Amino acid sequence: MKQNISAIILAAGKGTRMKSSMPKIMHKIAGVPMISHVIQNCEDAHINDIYCVINDTMDNINDVVSPHKTVIQKTQNGTADAVIAVKDHLKDHDGYITILCGDAPFISSDTLKELSKVAEKSGMAIIGFHADNPTGYGRLIADDNHVRGIIEEKDCSDIQRQITLCNGGAYCVKASKLFQWLDKVSNQNAQGEYYLTDIVSIATDDGVDCGYYMATQDELIGINSRVQLAQAEKIMQDKLRDNAMNNGVTMIAPETVYLSMDTIFGRDIIIEPNVFIGAGVHIGDNTHIHANSHIAGAGIGKNAEIGPFARIRPKSKIGNNACVGNFIEVNRSEFKDGAKSKHVSYIGDAVIGEKTNIGAGTVFANYDGFNKHVSTTGKGSFIGSNSTIISPITIGDGAFIAAGSTIAKNVNADALAVSRAKQLSRDGWTTQYRAKNKKDK
Ligand code: UD1
Ligand code: MG
Repeated sequence: MKQNISAIILAAGKGTRMKSSMPKIMHKIAGVPMISHVIQNCEDAHINDIYCVINDTMDNINDVVSPHKTVIQKTQNGTADAVIAVKDHLKDHDGYITILCGDAPFISSDTLKELSKVAEKSGMAIIGFHADNPTGYGRLIADDNHVRGIIEEKDCSDIQRQITLCNGGAYCVKASKLFQWLDKVSNQNAQGEYYLTDIVSIATDDGVDCGYYMATQDELIGINSRVQLAQAEKIMQDKLRDNAMNNGVTMIAPETVYLSMDTIFGRDIIIEPNVFIGAGVHIGDNTHIHANSHIAGAGIGKNAEIGPFARIRPKSKIGNNACVGNFIEVNRSEFKDGAKSKHVSYIGDAVIGEKTNIGAGTVFANYDGFNKHVSTTGKGSFIGSNSTIISPITIGDGAFIAAGSTIAKNVNADALAVSRAKQLSRDGWTTQYRAKNKKDK
C-alpha cells in the first residue's frame, strides 16, 4: 500500500475477566507480553508510527512499548472512546489508521497488509473469522463483500447469537473519516459503552462500504480470560515447535516442550520430553537436551550435553562439548569448552575452565548473605566430589582438589589442595564395642 499508515493499539481496558492485578496486555505468551506481539506484528508490516492507549494506573508499560508512544484514556468508556484518546495526535493524519486490540496478539503482518489493501478499495476494512465458539465476540452482519454492522454478544438477539462470523477486532480506516465517524458513536447499548464496532454501520450510512478480510480463528483469538490465555499459549507453542522441527530440531514429545519467542536453535539438536526454554536462549548444533531440563537466559554451544534435570539460569554460557548433567544448577556461570559437571552440583557465579571436571556434589558457595562472589577454575583442573568452593577464589590450570574438600584459599596451577578432617581408624574397635554393649544388656 502506498498510503501512510499509523497504528493505534487499544490496551487501556480493565481486563476484569483476567482477575489479575497486572494489566491484561502485560500477561505473557511464549515469554513476551501480549502487547509486544501486537507491536512486533505492526513493525513487521512496516507500520512504525504506533500509539498504545493505556490507562493511568498502568505502570512500567512505557518500557515495554518504547520507542512507540503511549496515550492515556482517562476513563474506560469503551473501545471507541479509547481511539478518541489519540485524536489530538492523528486528526490531521493523511493516510490510514490501523486499529488493533492489545488482547488479540496473533494478527500477522501479512494479514495486516491484506487488511490495508482491502481498506484502500473502499475506505475502510475489518478482519473477520469463523469461530467454533463465537461466545464473547462481536458478530458480523455481512454479505459476500461487505460488513454492514457489528453486533456485540450482549446486544445480540437469539438468532444473531447463532452467527459464527465474528469480529477479529482489527480495523483499517481512512484517517480523514475516522474521527468524524467516532463523534457519532453513542453508548446506547447493553454495556453503556462507546463501541468502536459501531463505526461500521455509521460508515455504511455515510456511503462507505466496509470491506472485510477473512483470517483463521487461531490468528484472531482475543484474550479476555486465563482460559483464553492458555489457548493462545498453546497456539503459539505449536507454531514455535513446528518451526523448530522444520529447521532441524528433533523433539521426541513436542507437546511437552515449551519455547520462547526468541529461542534460537542450530541444527541436529535433540530435545527430550518436558523441557522448558525461557527467554534469551540459543542452542548450538548437535546439542542434546535431556528430559526435564529448565533453561533461561543462557547460550549453549555445539555438541553439548544438558540434563536430565538440569537447570541453567540467566547470564550463563555453556561452551562447545561441555556437559551440565543431572541435577545440576548453573547460575550466572560460564562453562568453557569441554568443561563437565555431571552429577548433583550448584555452580553459581563461577567460570569453569576448559575441560575442567567438577565432581558430584560440588557446591560453589557464592553468597555471603549480602554479596555474590565469583570463583574461577583454570583449564583442565579437577574438582573432587563433594567439594565446597567458598568464593571468591581462583583455582589454577591443572589444579586438583581432593574430594570432600572445603576450599577457601586460592589454589596454584598444578597444585593439589586437600582440606578436610583427617581420618581416624582403630582396628578391632567395633568388635569390642559390640561385645561390651551385649554384656551390659
Ligand atoms: C472486542 C470487540 C468485539 C471483538 C473482540 C475481538 C468492541 C466493542 N468489541 O470485544 O467485537 O469481537 O474485541 O477480540 O470493540 N479497551 C480500551 N479501552 C476501553 C475498553 C477496551 O483500551 O475503554 C481495550 C482493551 O484493553 C482491549 C481492547 O480494547 O485490549 C478490546 O476490549 P475488550 O474489553 O477486550 O473487548 P472484547 O469484549 O474482547
Ligand atoms: Mg477482548
